Parts: sequence; C-alpha cells; structure tokens
Amino acid sequence: MRMVDLIAKKRDGHELNKQEIDFIIEGYTSKEIPEYQMSAFSMAIFFQGMTKDERVYLTDAMVKSGDVINLSEIEGIKVDKHSTGGVGDTTTLVLAPLVAAVGVPVAKMSGRGLGHTGGTIDKLESVPGFHVELSNDEFVRLVNENKIAVIGQSANLTPADKSLYGLRDVTATVDSIPLIASSIMSKKIAAGADAIVLDVKTGDGAFMKKLDDASDLADAMVDIGNGVGRKTMAIISDMSQPLGFAVGNALEVKEAIDTLVGKGPKDLHELCLTLGSHMVMLAGKAKDTEEARKMLVEVMESGAALEAFKTFLTSQGGDASVIDDPTKLPTAIHTIEVAAKTSGYISKIIADQIGTAAMLLGAGRATKESEIDLSVGLVLKKKIGDFVQTGESLVTIHANSEKVEEVIQLIYDAYSIVEKPVEAPTLIYKEIVK
Ligand code: URA
Ligand code: CA
Repeated sequence: MRMVDLIAKKRDGHELNKQEIDFIIEGYTSKEIPEYQMSAFSMAIFFQGMTKDERVYLTDAMVKSGDVINLSEIEGIKVDKHSTGGVGDTTTLVLAPLVAAVGVPVAKMSGRGLGHTGGTIDKLESVPGFHVELSNDEFVRLVNENKIAVIGQSANLTPADKSLYGLRDVTATVDSIPLIASSIMSKKIAAGADAIVLDVKTGDGAFMKKLDDASDLADAMVDIGNGVGRKTMAIISDMSQPLGFAVGNALEVKEAIDTLVGKGPKDLHELCLTLGSHMVMLAGKAKDTEEARKMLVEVMESGAALEAFKTFLTSQGGDASVIDDPTKLPTAIHTIEVAAKTSGYISKIIADQIGTAAMLLGAGRATKESEIDLSVGLVLKKKIGDFVQTGESLVTIHANSEKVEEVIQLIYDAYSIVEKPVEAPTLIYKEIVK
C-alpha cells in the first residue's frame, strides 16, 4: 500500500476500507507517514467527508494507536459523559456524585482545562487536599467501593489523535464533522467507557454555533459509538449563554454543591437531571428516563447525592468539610458588582466574552503553562429573559486585584438589554437515541 494512492482515492471520493485506514493511522503514529501526506489526506476528508464505516474504522484505529484503559475489574456498566464544551459548564461536578448516588459506577479520567476556566480536575482541586494521583488499583477499588473516583490522564491515550488534532489546527481542517466526531469518540472509548452520554452544545458560546451542525456532529458521534459497540446517545443543549450562574473554579464547586441538593440554577439543574437520567438508563439501573429522573431527584432531596460527593472528596484526600462550610473554599479578596446602565430585559449574554473575562481574572489558562487562580471568577446575577433595573447588578466579579476595568468592559460588551420582554432560550433542543 502507498499513502499517495490512498490520498488520491479519498480525494476522488471513494471509500477506504479498514485495512487502508489502519495502514494510514499506524503509519502516521510510527511517523512513517509524514505530516505533509497526512495534511493532504485531512484536506481530502474535509472535502469528501467519510462514510459511516470509514468513521468507525478511523476511530477504532486511533483508539488502538495508544493505551486502552481496561475497566473490567469495575463492577457494572461504566457510563461516561462528554460535553463538547462551553462556559461555566459545571455539569460533570454535579453528575458524577449524582449518578454514583444511585449506584452508577463513575470511573472518570479527566484533564486540566485550557481557556475559559479550569477543567474538572482544576475545579476539584479547589477542595484543599484533593488529588487525582491514584494508582490503577486504588482507582478500581474506590469505584467499586464508592461508585466514584477521578484519575488524572497519565496513560498514553490516542497519540494518533493528539498528532492529528495538532496538524488539523494548522491546516484549516478542524471543522470537519467526521474528523471531530472520531477525535472526540476515540478519546472516550480509549478511556474505557461501556456507554457514553454526549452533551453537544450549540449557540454562540459553543464549538458548533448552529443547531444543524451540532445535530450532524451528535449524529455522527452516536453512530460511531454504537458502531464500535458502546451504547451511545446524545442531547443537543444550549450554549447561547453561560450555563448556571458561576464561572470560575471554586465558585463552580459551590454551585455544584447547591445543585446536588436541588438548589442549583434552573438550567444547570435541568441539564443535570436530563443527562443523569440517560446515564442511569444506559447503566441499566432504571426502566425508562422517567424512573431514572425520579431516582435522581430522590437522592438530591435525601442528601444522598451530597453525601456521595463528600465520600468521593474524602477518599481522594480532600477536606470535605468545605461542603458544609463553602467559605473554606479558596475565596477572592474583592467582590465587585457590574451594575446595569439601563433598565430592560436581557436579550443576549455572549458566552465567549464571559469566558474571556473569567480567564483574564485568572480562572483559566491562556497557555498550558499558566497557573490558575482557583478563587476568582464571575457569578451571573441575570440571565437571558430576566428583567434588570438600572443600577442593579448584572454580574458579581470575584477578583484578587482591583484592576478589573477590562473585565468590566467585556461584561458590558457581552450583555445586551432591550425594552421588550425576551423569552429564555430553549435549554434542550433534542435527544438523539438510536
Ligand atoms: N475536540 C476534540 O477533541 N477534537 C476535535 O476534533 C474537535 C474538538
Ligand atoms: Ca456554571
């Protein structure tokens, strides 16, 4: 087989078979296939797309390019959740203990964040003492005992994807549904999940701004997951404004605590119950999503969900007393209110700008090497559809510096206020179950 012939085959719109795709990914991983041929191949995919079978082969080949986590020692069906990302997305912090509390094993491998705010691990590290450096045996034991543990990404997962994603970034080939879908799914599959719930975001603050594109991506990922034998479903949810109120690491932990007892922001609460119900279903713990939802509401109300969060934090070295006393979480020195300059209804909150504002405060990383400040961030006081009076606060800034002019300006730029009432956006556009 020669790479040049395979590039030509794809360029001309023909379907590649499994052997051919394996040849390409193996050759690329071992560096026998050079970057320039892989660039041409990516561009051919960009224009010609990939069939359902090709997408499954590509995903599978990328999974096999590195370590594959074996979770078979953990009892039960391990369900993982993946979100395509957004601003202030606190769902993982809530969902992990929430579904664990009804007996769904959560064996999560997580990473640090780049951009807006930290990743799940950064957020959890706001709890003093908490760490994710677990041995494999410890990880398995904790999930079997408590139904929940989070481990850092130490293994060499999907190196082919890592290289290819980097290459796509500089060859204008990121925006290709088959490439995005196989990239995301290869990582989830290599991390060992038996079943996967996908939260594909759409709107201004999302990777996929348009609903149609988000649907196509979700569809492609569900097909890939099911195609490699992992039960997969997706929901499409709104990211036209940040999710919940809090954007920032410790602030989001506090928000997660509120949500775990049923007192969280309405949108975050609803999204967690929807995603959680599907996780419980896929884990075989309920006969339908209605029953699953009832189970989740019950553990919120009984305190069992919060108890699962405490057990989880304690067993990974964290000081769980922060849950009863969130003032023990890292706290910023200054709080500054951003007051509305006019009265009216909030019609828009550009999520990206809110994310950038949080990053400028120090809540996120501009580069992989940046240190993050766990205490800082923003708490939105008004969301789309809300009425605001002149002088009332739109956002509370939590900062460790008083020099926040740029942050305030970004917040004003992010918010639009109009005279006529505005409806709150739809939170969940659709569910894709096949
Ligand atoms: N996120 C990924 O992990 N891969 C992509 O290709 C795009 C977004
Ligand atoms: Ca939030």
